[in-house]
Amino acid sequence: MRTTQLYRDAVARLPASLRSAASKLLGRPSARYAILALAALAVIIVAMTQMASVIVDQWSQRDVELRARLVFRSVGERVMLGLAAKPEADLQPFFEQLAEDERLLALGYCNPKGQLLYATKSMPDDAHCPPPPLPKVDTFEVIRGHGAPISLAVFPLSTKEDEGSLLVVHDLSFVEKRTREAEFYMALALVGVAAGLGLLATAIVLALLRGWTQSLRAAIANFGPGRAGYSGARQAELPIGRDIEAMLSELRLERRYTDGIHVEWSPKTLHQLLDQELPGAQVIVVSNREPYIHNRVDGRVVLQTPASGLVSALEPVMRACGGVWVAHGSGSADRDTVDKRDRVAVPPANPAYALRRVWLTDEEQDGYYYGLANEGLWPLCHIAFVRPTFREKDWAYYAAVNRRFADVVVEEADRDDPIVLVQDYQFAMLPRMLRSRLPRATIIAFWHIPWPNPETFGICPWREQIIDGLLGSSILGFHTQFHCNNFIEAVDRFMESRIDRERSSVTLAGHETLIRPYPISIEWPPAALERQAPPKECREAVKTRFSLPADARIAVGVERFDYTKGILDRMRAVDALLEHHPEWRGKLVFIQAAAPTRSKLNTYKGLQAEAIREAEAINARWGHGSYKPILLQIRHHEPSEVFELFRAADLCVVSSLHDGMNLVAKEFVASRDDEQGVLVLSSFAGASRELSEALIVNPYDTHGMSETIDAALRMDPSVQRERMREMRELVRQRNVYRWAAQMLLDAARLRRRESIGYTAAA
Ligand code: G6P
Repeated sequence: MRTTQLYRDAVARLPASLRSAASKLLGRPSARYAILALAALAVIIVAMTQMASVIVDQWSQRDVELRARLVFRSVGERVMLGLAAKPEADLQPFFEQLAEDERLLALGYCNPKGQLLYATKSMPDDAHCPPPPLPKVDTFEVIRGHGAPISLAVFPLSTKEDEGSLLVVHDLSFVEKRTREAEFYMALALVGVAAGLGLLATAIVLALLRGWTQSLRAAIANFGPGRAGYSGARQAELPIGRDIEAMLSELRLERRYTDGIHVEWSPKTLHQLLDQELPGAQVIVVSNREPYIHNRVDGRVVLQTPASGLVSALEPVMRACGGVWVAHGSGSADRDTVDKRDRVAVPPANPAYALRRVWLTDEEQDGYYYGLANEGLWPLCHIAFVRPTFREKDWAYYAAVNRRFADVVVEEADRDDPIVLVQDYQFAMLPRMLRSRLPRATIIAFWHIPWPNPETFGICPWREQIIDGLLGSSILGFHTQFHCNNFIEAVDRFMESRIDRERSSVTLAGHETLIRPYPISIEWPPAALERQAPPKECREAVKTRFSLPADARIAVGVERFDYTKGILDRMRAVDALLEHHPEWRGKLVFIQAAAPTRSKLNTYKGLQAEAIREAEAINARWGHGSYKPILLQIRHHEPSEVFELFRAADLCVVSSLHDGMNLVAKEFVASRDDEQGVLVLSSFAGASRELSEALIVNPYDTHGMSETIDAALRMDPSVQRERMREMRELVRQRNVYRWAAQMLLDAARLRRRESIGYTAAA
C-alpha cells in the first residue's frame, strides 16, 4: 500500500474535529517527512530492543547453566558419598541448606526409577525427574509452567549400586526483569542518540543558514551604486554574485516604488533615498511662487510664507533634500535680501537650501502670470464656469518668461545631468527648453492643477505647443490617474506621437515621457503644529478673539480667495442650514479665512466683492445683537494662525468646485491630534479620492451641503474619532516626503536604465 494511502486510512479513523486538522497537517510535505522519520525511528527502536531482549535472555540462561554446573561440581561428590553410605545418608537437610542461596531455588535427587527423593521444600511442582532410563549426560531445560519460569538442570550421579540424577532448579524470574531493563535502556539509548543526532543536524543547518544569511546581508549592505562598500572586487569575494545584486537592486526600487506604505517617509528617509539612489545628484526646483517672500512694511523687512499649496508641499521636501529653488522674486524687499547672484539661503532661521530669485517686469507679470497662466490656463483646467481668455501678447510673454527661467536653471546647474523639478502650469514650455539645452538632465514636471478632457483643452490656441513643451520632461506627474488619462487623451487627439498605454508613456521625436500619478500631500508632523496649545485652549482663544458665546459651534474655511474654491457656495449652504434648522441660529459661526490672491484680475476682484455682499446679507438675515453667523477674514494668515483655527473648529468645509488635490483638507486632518472635528469635503477635490472618511459633498447642491453640515455638527465624538483616526493615519503615511520619494525613485530608475543604454524604442 502506498504511504499516502496509509495516511488517508489513518485520518479516516480519527474523529471529525481532528480529521480536518490532521488532513491539513498531512497535506504538508514537511509533516509527511516528519511522520515518516518518526515511524522509521519507532521501527528501529522496536527491532533493537527485541534483539537486546534475546541477547539478554540467552546470556542469562548460559549464566544459570554455569551456576547449576558449579553447584553440581561442588556438591555432586558429597551427594554420591551420602548415597553410597550404609545406611544411606539423609540428604534432605544438606539440600535445604544449599537452597538458601538467592537464585538456587531447589535441589533434589532422582533415583534410577525416576522418583524424586530428598527434594527441598521449595521444589516447584513444574520440576520433575526425567523418565527412566535416566540420561547419561547433563541436560538443561527451561520450564514456563504454572508458576515463575524455572531452569531445570539434570546431572547424572553414579554410585556403585545405582545410577541416579541430581536436579538443580534455578528461578528464572530475574531473567525477565533483566530483559525488561535491557529493553528499556536500549530504547532510552536509541532515543537519546536520535535526539543527539537531530540536535547536531539542526545545529549544522542553523550554522549553514547563518553563514548564508550573513552573506546575503553583506551583499545587500555592500552592493549597489552609492553603497559604502560597493566595488566589483567585493562582489567577486562574496558567495552571491552579479545576478543576485541585480535582482536586489531592482527589488529595492520596485518595493519602495510600489509599496511605499512600508517605509516611514520623513526628511531622514528622503535624504537617505537621495544618498542611496541618486548619489551626488543636484536637485533644482522651479516654480513661479517663492517659498519665502521678503516684504517691506512700515520701513521694516517682514518675512511672509505665501498661501500656496505648492509651497506648503515643496518647502519641507527642499529642506530635506537641499539644492536650489528658482522662483519669481515677488516681495517688495526681495532684492534687498539676496546676494550678488540673486540668491538667499533659506529658511532664514536655519538655512537648508538656496532660493534663487528671478526678477520680472510688470509687463512680464501681466502677460505671463496674470494673463496666460491665470486668465488662460487656470480657468481652462478648472471646470468652474469662468471663461478662459487667450491673448497672443500674453502667450509671447509666457514663452519669454519660460525662456528666462530656462536660462537661470542652466546657469544654476553645476553638472550636465541635474534633476530639475518643474512646478505647475506657469512653466508648460520649460521642460522642452531645458531638454534642448541640458539633454542629459532628468526633468520631472508636476502639474498641480487638474488636466481637463480633450474637448475642453482643445479650445486653447496653443494646445500643441503646451503639450510639446511638457513632453520635454522625463516624467510628467499629476495628482490623479484621471488627470493622467485626460492628458494622454489630449496627446492622442492633437499630437503625432507614439502612446504606450501599458507603460503610460508618450514618445515624441524619439524621446519618451512617462505619465504618472503622484498624489501630493503635506509634511508630517506639520511644522505649524509645533507650538500649538491644546485644542480646548485654541477654542477658547478663538472664541475670545471673535467675541463668541460660550456655547458657540465653529465651522471654518481656509483658502486663497479663488473662484475655484466654492467660497460663495459654502456661505449659501450655511444660509440654508440656518433657514431649515433654526436651532443653529445664534449658535453656529462660520469663520472664513480668505487670503487675497491675483487681486489684479476682475474675476478675483468680483468674487471678493460678491463674497462680502453675500456675507453681509446672511448676517443681516440671521444675525442679532453681536451675533454674526459669517465671519469673513480677508487677509493673509500665517500657518500657525490657520492651525489654531483648525484646532478650534467643530468642522472644516472644503467645497472646491474643482481642485487638483487641496491640501487644506489634509492640513485640517493633520492639525487634529485630539482626533475630533469633522471634514466636509467636495467630491471635486482630488483629496476626496484619499480621504473617504470625510463627509463628501457636491458643492453645487446647496441644500445637500447644508444638511451635511448639520450632520457634521451632530456627529457623535466617538464617530468623529473613528473617522479622524483613519484619515490621520492615511495622511501620516502618504505624506509629502512619500510624494517626493515616489518621483525621485522613478527618476533614479530612469537614470539607471539610461546609464545602461536603455531606450524606449529598443
Ligand atoms: C495653486 C497652484 C500653485 C500656486 C497656488 C497659489 O495651488 O497650483 O501653482 O502656487 O495656487 O497661487 P499663486 O498664483 O498665488 O501662486
